[in-house]
Amino acid sequence: MSYKHQVAEMIASALVHMGVDNLNKEQVYGMLETPPNPAMGDIAFPCFQLAKALRKAPPMIAADLAANISGSPLQEVKAVGPYVNLFLDQAAVSTQVIGTILAEGASYGKSNLGQGRNVPIDLSSPNIAKPFSMGHLRSTVIGNAIANILEKQGYKPVRINHLGDWGTQFGKLIVAYRLWGDEEKVKAEPIKELLHLYVKFHEEAEKDPSLEDQGREWFKKLEDGDAEAQHLWSWFRDESLKEFMKIYDLMNVSFDSTHGEAFYNDKMDRVVSLLEEKGLLTESDGAQVVSLDEYDMPPCLIKKSDGATLYATRDLAAALFRHETYDFAKAVYVVGNEQRLHFQQLYKVLEKMGYPWAANMHHIPFGMMLKDGKKMSTRKGKVVLLEEVLAQAIADVQKVIEEKNPSLANKEEVARQVGVGAVIFHDLKNYRLNDINFSWEEMLTFEGETGPYVQYTHARACSLLRKGNYQPASSSELVPGALEGKEAWAVVTLLNAFPEVVDRAGSQFDPSLIGKYVIDLAQVFNKFYANVRILAEEDAVKASRLQLVAAVVVVLKEGLRLLGLAAPEEM
Ligand code: ARG
Repeated sequence: MSYKHQVAEMIASALVHMGVDNLNKEQVYGMLETPPNPAMGDIAFPCFQLAKALRKAPPMIAADLAANISGSPLQEVKAVGPYVNLFLDQAAVSTQVIGTILAEGASYGKSNLGQGRNVPIDLSSPNIAKPFSMGHLRSTVIGNAIANILEKQGYKPVRINHLGDWGTQFGKLIVAYRLWGDEEKVKAEPIKELLHLYVKFHEEAEKDPSLEDQGREWFKKLEDGDAEAQHLWSWFRDESLKEFMKIYDLMNVSFDSTHGEAFYNDKMDRVVSLLEEKGLLTESDGAQVVSLDEYDMPPCLIKKSDGATLYATRDLAAALFRHETYDFAKAVYVVGNEQRLHFQQLYKVLEKMGYPWAANMHHIPFGMMLKDGKKMSTRKGKVVLLEEVLAQAIADVQKVIEEKNPSLANKEEVARQVGVGAVIFHDLKNYRLNDINFSWEEMLTFEGETGPYVQYTHARACSLLRKGNYQPASSSELVPGALEGKEAWAVVTLLNAFPEVVDRAGSQFDPSLIGKYVIDLAQVFNKFYANVRILAEEDAVKASRLQLVAAVVVVLKEGLRLLGLAAPEEM
């Protein structure tokens, strides 16, 4: 149990003695504050809320309460006005926190909230035959981090790449290929060439609108199983996937399922008949829709007038499939904020179909990746390609390594880990709903609040352990006084907060909390390192300080892992 929980329990039981019976320890825990100034204590408990129940002024309550609490892990308890200020026995707490981390290792911070239940997470989900853009990067890294965090909370994440491999755009692409395509070119540089055809289609369609009709016709053929359409489609899909796999491999992201939209093609009739049976389908301009008037939402389009199904139809089929396959605790969709309405409609339609589990579905939206303040558009060819960004980041890191540490073992792998780490962290340190302005410069800075800075701090701490010949088993007791001082205490308090940060990041689907946390931890650790002697100390003190360093290594590495970053031991 963390010291904060211990303190909450002590306060809660003291309150029971004083006649307060409506506050349990969890509620007390939620009321604990951190004093603005460490000289006022490590934890503060405000007494305002108790005035009514106890019919006393808050300062009097604080005084009574302060007199009723004592013992480990507390050193001193003081009433100051309406607050009870609590000072921790820092030596005892440090021993406890460090001991727990070193004993638990990578499982420090793990909980069993999820009880092993499945959570399908829809992430990445790029569109076939289009480049993997910076926009899809966001879904990939945010989704992957959320999956790692939920796993740490005891859920079983199922990473699903819901590929955009179906829809009218494939009809358009087939039309473009038949008109202007060249097999050799597509084979040589598939995505580039397919994008070129796609862009050309839209340019030509502005002059000749009949192209749009042809695009729709060819998609209809595809849905009906036409051999030529099928053949071209699966060729485009295979070539695209090969290219996407290169990126996933670089980023070390893998999936449990790559059932894309096409997978649901034969599962759509069932959705339509279910909707029909439940009397939810109505006709509108020849199309079949589910009206959502009562929620002030536009109708959800199920079938076009030519019988072709839509994005929403496929998502309905996918939702049913996921419910039946995974019996999920919750289902998560990491998809851009511009699709907010789509997911609201989806949940409402499932609700109208009478499925209570629709309430456990969560759209986790994120902001846009902008370029020069504007949205990137595939159609106009205005995209930054993720592949280029990753390649550039890795090349930059390689250059730094050649300059600063040319004899480093495993150079190439470290350059990949750090270059990719820079790109991933650049995204995850921001709250996901904020838009990000893409800038080469910011993405490729390795100092300040960046992934490489955290990775570097971790490597530095590892090297300290090597130089100090740190032995995990031999050192269990901390020497009194070895960890005195505000620098060490700042590190210990943050180390202690890790499990709580993980829980918050999980319940709020917010990896940026972990991003900020590892930056904070790296910073306080570097301060400790700059101000406190470690290797030059006599053996017992050195061993105690190295234990703190070892605990920092465990938590930095685990924090980075949750975000999807590797933690090289040397760089
Ligand atoms: N392929 C879509 C896009 O790029 C995202 C798919 C998201 N997942 C879903 N189940 N709708 O916009």
